Amino acid sequence: MITVLGASGNTGGQVVRRLRAAGVAVRAVGRDAARLADAAAHGAEPVVGDITDPAVRTAAFRGAEAAYVLMPLDLAAPGYRRQQEQVGTAITAGLRAAGVPRVVALSSLGAEIPSGTGFLETLHQQEERLAGLDARVTLLRPGLFFESFLPALPAMLAAGVHHDTVAPDVALPMVATRDVGDAAATALLDPGAVGVREVPGPEDLTLPDAVARIGAVLGKPLRYERAPDDVMRAVLVEAGLPADLTDEQLAMNAAFNRRVVRRRGRGPATGSPTTIEQWAASLVSTTGA
Ligand SMILES: NC(=O)c1ccc[n+]([C@@H]2O[C@H](COP(=O)([O-])OP(=O)(O)OC[C@H]3O[C@@H](n4cnc5c(N)ncnc54)[C@H](OP(=O)(O)O)[C@@H]3O)[C@@H](O)[C@H]2O)c1
Repeated sequence: MITVLGASGNTGGQVVRRLRAAGVAVRAVGRDAARLADAAAHGAEPVVGDITDPAVRTAAFRGAEAAYVLMPLDLAAPGYRRQQEQVGTAITAGLRAAGVPRVVALSSLGAEIPSGTGFLETLHQQEERLAGLDARVTLLRPGLFFESFLPALPAMLAAGVHHDTVAPDVALPMVATRDVGDAAATALLDPGAVGVREVPGPEDLTLPDAVARIGAVLGKPLRYERAPDDVMRAVLVEAGLPADLTDEQLAMNAAFNRRVVRRRGRGPATGSPTTIEQWAASLVSTTGA
């Protein structure tokens, strides 16, 4: 039996579907029973509750032969760093107490860098916590999710322009979360899996290229404009993003601009076939965007 944390989310949902298709018993963890309905429909056993609750993490991890874990964001939590520390510590404690022998953990490209990377720093800290487990740990390091464009998409489509602070000539590895879920399932189904597995996506993309290609699929010309940090900070806070999360995002973008967040290679072993056009086309069929 394999435990999947975040089973109602982007990557975890795909992990559940892949494991169930392979005939593996799955425990699907999330805080909302309704959102776990798809996992349950695929035959997974739901565990409903917050992973920071000791009783929930015991129910989640007890007897598991392997686990998929991630660091969920909570926009309603009072402080990003504190929330990430709480959830990361709880997950590691639960895995340790249950003696789960194999762990596949969602991290990110750049998580090997200890500081100066904003959002990615908490994933570095979680990689360090997981390294203290007596378990075979696979660290999955994907590029930027295509899904990261979704919160800005309505404004982008309305205005025909996307603003961010990443330099227009910086090419970033970008990937569909479906492919990240597939890579996680592949690692979970491989008893020998251990160490770092990068999931960089099919190609590196600049933001001008990425938004133009999304726009071409959605039938709306889209362009990218780099915004100064202070302007972007005001826009994001106005849009409702907490100030500390806004600063984490700007710091991560600054690290992208320093070109320190790098992938190692790309090839059959890092296979993630979904192109940005295929991903954008799937938005049309699922959301009518
Ligand atoms: N965005 C990027 O470009 C990027 C790049 C690299 C890595 N990452 C990593 O990927 C993560 C997101 O992965 P994702 O997109 O697969 O997740 P997601 O779609 O945001 O889903 C999060 C999942 O976790 C569950 N969850 C949230 N808080 C929980 C809690 N306290 N206890 C139990 N379950 C909880 C959610 O369900 P409920 O809300 O119903 O509980 C949901 O199933 C990020 O946080 C980051 O660490 C992101």
